[in-house]
Amino acid sequence: MRPMQECDVREVVRIERGAYPFPWSPGIFRDCLRVGYCCWVLEHRSILRGYGIMSAGARESHILNLCVHERFQGRGMGRLILDHLLEVARGHRALTVMLEVRPSNMQALHLYRAVGFNEVGTRRGYYPAEGRREDALIMAMELQSDTPGGARRDSRDATRR
Ligand SMILES: CC(C)(COP(=O)(O)OP(=O)(O)OC[C@H]1O[C@@H](n2cnc3c(N)ncnc32)[C@H](O)[C@@H]1OP(=O)(O)O)[C@@H](O)C(=O)NCCC(=O)NCCS
Repeated sequence: MRPMQECDVREVVRIERGAYPFPWSPGIFRDCLRVGYCCWVLEHRSILRGYGIMSAGARESHILNLCVHERFQGRGMGRLILDHLLEVARGHRALTVMLEVRPSNMQALHLYRAVGFNEVGTRRGYYPAEGRREDALIMAMELQSDTPGGARRDSRDATRR
């Protein structure tokens, strides 16, 4: 994992367009770099395999994008990027990490549940879809907890924003 740079945006956008039906534009990635979001790429043998983008705050971090090149999906790279983002969030002393995901995105849902995210709500009509809008599931994970076994506890009360 290494920090994303402006010169990576071209390749990142290529991966984004292959992986999402409604991809982010190059301008969105550049804005994320400009405002100082945590932007990381996974590079292996000089080839970008995926990336993750997160806004990190003292209390809450928000994963804004997590993507693996479509050719390299299902090989543990998404998990690797997500684990890295969670470490970065811990470094910012975030208590909660939030994200949105399409309810139809089984691959992503499986990954988020596996690392300990819980579903805490819905954003109606959040995503564009073919001829309609799709709701987003809001997921949250607590990084610190006063309960034994801590981070994996039900975080339905973690939607404080
Ligand atoms: C979602 C995404 C980031 C996951 O990354 P990945 O590298 O494919 O996933 P991994 O190989 O790390 O697998 C993570 C878990 O998901 C599971 N998984 C992988 N593909 C799956 C599938 N098609 N169906 C169900 N589970 C699947 C794996 O078994 C693994 O679980 P395990 O650790 O319990 O075995 C990746 O598929 C992707 O970039 N998708 C397109 C962009 C996207 O939708 N991003 C998420 C936006 S919220």
